[in-house]
Amino acid sequence: MLLIKGGTVVTAERSVRADVLCDDTGLIAQVGPALEAPTGCEIVDAAGLLVMPGGIDPHTHMEMPFMGATASDDFYTGTAAGLAGGTTSIIDFVIPDRGGSLLDAWKDWRAKAEKAAADYGFHVAVTHWDEQVHADMATLVRDCGVNSFKHFMAYKNALMVQDEAFLLSMRRAGELGALCTVHAENGDAVAYLQQMLLAEGQTGPAAHPLSRPASVEGEAASRAIALASLSGTPLYVVHVSTREATRAIAEARLRGQHVYGEVLPQHLVIDETVYRDPDWLTAARHVMSPPFREKSHQEALWGGLVSGQLQTTATDHCCFCKEQKEQGAADFTRIPNGTPGIEDRMSVLWHYGVATGRLTPELFVAVTSTNTAKIFNLHPRKGTIVPGADADIVLWDPQATRTISAGTHHQNVDYNIYEGLTVSGVAQKTISQGKVVWDRGILRAEKGAGRYVERPAFTPVSKVSSSA
Ligand code: URP
Ligand code: ZN
Ligand code: ZN
Ligand code: ZN
Repeated sequence: MLLIKGGTVVTAERSVRADVLCDDTGLIAQVGPALEAPTGCEIVDAAGLLVMPGGIDPHTHMEMPFMGATASDDFYTGTAAGLAGGTTSIIDFVIPDRGGSLLDAWKDWRAKAEKAAADYGFHVAVTHWDEQVHADMATLVRDCGVNSFKHFMAYKNALMVQDEAFLLSMRRAGELGALCTVHAENGDAVAYLQQMLLAEGQTGPAAHPLSRPASVEGEAASRAIALASLSGTPLYVVHVSTREATRAIAEARLRGQHVYGEVLPQHLVIDETVYRDPDWLTAARHVMSPPFREKSHQEALWGGLVSGQLQTTATDHCCFCKEQKEQGAADFTRIPNGTPGIEDRMSVLWHYGVATGRLTPELFVAVTSTNTAKIFNLHPRKGTIVPGADADIVLWDPQATRTISAGTHHQNVDYNIYEGLTVSGVAQKTISQGKVVWDRGILRAEKGAGRYVERPAFTPVSKVSSSA
């Protein structure tokens, strides 16, 4: 047993002085003022600290094969790094081989994730359509605890899904009570611009943002929303990086459509000037999609979070080391896309969000944990601090500072996009399944301690689709 004593419990709803008792099965047993410590119970002093639900990162790519490389953080190192930053669960993406079975891919990812140190679930990507996909989606929802499917509108000739398959997948997801997630960038437009830029001799990372302008994301987000409205299936837009996509989501929500939007801290705080860095590697290390944008988009993203039109924050944690990025030395379109960040999401958001007054502590909890738990049907098992919930908790020191560096981070990658940044707001202790796994700089992550978390389906929307 573990008793967290003397802290302020912060949930998405309120902040209250309370103690939290965690039992030996990894659940929260009691929350209340001045709780008695049962005999033999370990006591954790939380005086001056905020006791918050552990972060949930709904968008990671651990050891993902992508663009000829494999992401360098695996399920152990990546989830351990998450624990060091206060994140206690992830939802990763299963990516089937081209034309391959969704179910086989899910099994492969289950095997890879056995070594995870923190709890995890999966979204499964649909990249083509046939009868097997139709059948596998049902098996995944009914028997495998998957309630969300991913669609890439970008990455032509690789992961990109055609509109027809996307429509069929959304209808199928809706009738099964699952949610659809989407990477919204027009893949044809990106490929067209990439070819033009290369033909002009623009081969370096500076061309990356030029090949993926804001309009390309705005068009795809609007199209995805329009297509989703045909079946009534809820749609979750990953890594929203532009005011165009933010507006499309907000307008759809005002029309009553079930659309959600996710923001990455890196899009909130890093801008496109990084691609013009004179050092090729520095610029290449920022190559991710959608790219970092002109600063004016950042205000729209903050506004989306503050107003509730954008609900979640994630990292899209996808690590590639120097040699992997160098694969694109002569051609920016071959630089593996992705940036690290699972360890720093909570601190960066606290520093730029709460410490600046943009977000309240309660809204911070909502956008780092609770909203994700609700959207992906993990709530109230995760995302809150109530009796019966998983004892996944972060003891947050809002005053402490730390300087982010690849030299000290736990992510298995040779750089950090926030290198040298001193942030206020630090995970002092992280508790996973009722055990202290991060304690003021000491990481006690345990390989294989993470559990696969099944996410049940929602009420199907088949009635909506058949009447539409
Ligand atoms: O650049 C990125 N984001 N890499 C990971 C794959 C994806 O698009 O999410
Ligand atoms: Zn059907
Ligand atoms: Zn993406
Ligand atoms: Zn991603």
